[in-house]
Amino acid sequence: MSYNNITISSNNNIAILTINRPSKLNALNRETIQELHDAFKELELDKNIKVIIVTGSGEKAFVAGADISEFADFNTEEGEKLAAKGQELLFNFIENLSTPVIAAVNGFALGGGLELAMSCHFRIASDNARMGLPEVSLGVIPGYGGTQRLPQLIGKGRAMELIMTAGMIDADQALNYGLVNHVTTQSELFSFCEKIAGKIARNSTVAIGAAIKAINAVYKDGVDGYEVEIKQFGKSFGTEDFKEGTMAFLQKRKADFLG
Ligand code: COA
Repeated sequence: MSYNNITISSNNNIAILTINRPSKLNALNRETIQELHDAFKELELDKNIKVIIVTGSGEKAFVAGADISEFADFNTEEGEKLAAKGQELLFNFIENLSTPVIAAVNGFALGGGLELAMSCHFRIASDNARMGLPEVSLGVIPGYGGTQRLPQLIGKGRAMELIMTAGMIDADQALNYGLVNHVTTQSELFSFCEKIAGKIARNSTVAIGAAIKAINAVYKDGVDGYEVEIKQFGKSFGTEDFKEGTMAFLQKRKADFLG
C-alpha cells in the first residue's frame, strides 16, 4: 500500500512507522489517521513484523497534535464524531493491537501526539522531547483518549494539573512521572528502541499478544482482568510456541518461535 503522510521501513522483524508531515510538525489530519490505521492493520497481519516503532519525521516533533486547521469550524456533533472516529480508527486500535508498539518520542508530543504515544504499549523519549495536552488552551479537551490514558499512566492529580495548565513537561519529568520508560540522547533514540524491540522480537509473538490482552483488561470497565488472564494463560498451552518454548528450555537450547 502507498501512503502520502507516513513511511514504513523494516529490518530484522522490526518495522519503523514514521509520520511524515514535518512542515506541520507531523500534525494528525484525517488522512494521516486513516493511513496510520491502514498501516497498523497491514503490519499486524505481516507475520515477519514482530515489533512496530512509531515516530515523527524531522528533528523537532513526534506529533504536535491533531491538525487544528481541520476542526476549527466544527460544531458539537462534528466534534463528537471526530473524537469517536479517531479513537476507533487509531488510538484504541493501537492499544489493542497484538503486535507490540513502541513510541519513539523524538520531539514535541502534544495533544493528539501525546495521545498517540500513550496509545502505544510503551514510550521511549529523546532528551529534546516535550509532552503535554494543551487542548484547554484552545477551548476544547483532549478527545483521543487523553483524559483516560494520562491518569492511568501518571496518576489523577498529575494528569489534572497537566491538562488544566495546558503545560508541557520535558523528557526527564516524563520519566519521573512514568510517562516514558527511558530517555536517551537524540542520536541514540533509534538504536535504543531497536535494542529493546530486538529483545521483544526473540520471544513468542503469540504469548506477547495474549499478555497485551490481559494487561489491557486492567483498564476495561466491566471486565475481570484475572479472568482474562486465566483464559489467555490456558489458551497459550494450545499453541505451537508453548510447545517450542518449553521444549527448548528442557533441551537447553534457544527457542525458535514460529508464531
Ligand atoms: N495543527 C496544525 N498545524 C500545526 C499544529 C497542529 N496541531 N502544530 C503545528 N502546526 C503547524 C504550524 O501551524 C506551522 O505551520 P505553518 O508554517 O504553515 O504556519 C508549522 O506547523 C510549524 O509550527 P510553528 O508553530 O511555527 O512551530 P514553533 O516551533 O513555533 O512551535 C509548537 C511549536 C509545537 C509549540 C506549536 O506549533 C504549537 O503550539 N502547536 C500546536 C500544539 C497544540 O495545541 N496541539 C494540540 C492540538 S489539539
